[in-house]
Amino acid sequence: MASFSISAIVVLTILAAKEIEGGGGAGTCNIYEGNWIYDPSYPLYNPADCPFLESREFDCQKNGRPDKNYLHYRWQPTGCNLPRFDAHDFLQRFRGKQLMFVGDSLSLNQWQSLTCMIHTSLPQAPYISNKIGGLSNFTFPDYKVSFLFSRNAYLVDIRSEIIGRVMYIESVEYSRGLWEGMDFLIFDSWHWWTHTGSDQLWDFIREGNATYKDMNRLVAYEKAINTWAKWANSRADPAKNRLIFQGVSPDHASPPKTCVGAEAPLPGPSPKGTNHPAEAVLEKVLSGAKEVYLLDITGLSELRIDAHPSAYGFGGSKFPDCSHWCLPGLPDVWNQLLYTYLFQI
Ligand SMILES: *[C@@H]1O[C@H](CO)[C@@H](O)[C@H](O)[C@H]1NC(C)=O
Ligand SMILES: *[C@@H]1O[C@H](CO)[C@@H](O)[C@H](O)[C@H]1NC(C)=O
Repeated sequence: MASFSISAIVVLTILAAKEIEGGGGAGTCNIYEGNWIYDPSYPLYNPADCPFLESREFDCQKNGRPDKNYLHYRWQPTGCNLPRFDAHDFLQRFRGKQLMFVGDSLSLNQWQSLTCMIHTSLPQAPYISNKIGGLSNFTFPDYKVSFLFSRNAYLVDIRSEIIGRVMYIESVEYSRGLWEGMDFLIFDSWHWWTHTGSDQLWDFIREGNATYKDMNRLVAYEKAINTWAKWANSRADPAKNRLIFQGVSPDHASPPKTCVGAEAPLPGPSPKGTNHPAEAVLEKVLSGAKEVYLLDITGLSELRIDAHPSAYGFGGSKFPDCSHWCLPGLPDVWNQLLYTYLFQI
């Protein structure tokens, strides 16, 4: 964070702390700086009470994970306390609103966490859940609140053409209509930019009149996030269409720091700032974007080497998953931080 001086973000963070604390620690509290504390009252819910949780991907206990310590960590900011997550208050406050996560499976991870947090707190509240193509819609009709997830790994357009799938790195025309209909949007992107070969979802990149077979992925990511930021800055009424960007979710897939077998967080406090190159790019671009809030989860998540599915995810022990996160688990804390932000706007 040291070099990251987006005043809007800092101010919002301070405001959040002030309201939460009733004045104590105002001006000193960054909710993203703190420690992981062992707290037996966690996790926030029992996954068995969340029937729509994608268990093969995220329910590590159901998939046979033997250790349980990772479930019991609470995030404690250094300068203040996070507000208690109150699902009823959340739905009351956002009555009539639509809130959409846009991004890859890390967005899915956070969206699933949020719907489970709310449903398990309010099991009697009816819900309607449907999925059409890449759009999932989870609505609490009594409150008229919808939580949507739009799968969109790169954010920019991909069009099918004769030569193949062409990424238009300067365009979000396909998606902006959907986005602009939302009251709140939480974006994420990065992981798919590293995918190559048959794991990538495009064949060419078009920029201006030029067509490229490939590009340095960090450079491509920066161009795409810049395109996104241009759209963000072009919005007619930012207050009607609030934007949040999720910081890059770190993986722990490369030795020596791999998640396999990890049963405890890395020792804190969370690093100030991050060495993650994509996060550095994201922060640079967002510093030029109007009224975008950074959900700055990168540093605190870097400590949670223990919180990935590892051998108890989709790929089993053959393809340990050190990118996603178990549920219940870390994304619940991301949602507590999101709630803390939403609480004060
Ligand atoms: C989500 O579902 C609710 C309830 O069915 C509906 O009112 C709302 O328009 C849907 N949102 C979108 C973006 O499709
Ligand atoms: C792209 O091609 C069109 C038509 O050939 C031309 O008019 C335009 O100036 C070109 N744009 C750039 C950025 O090169």
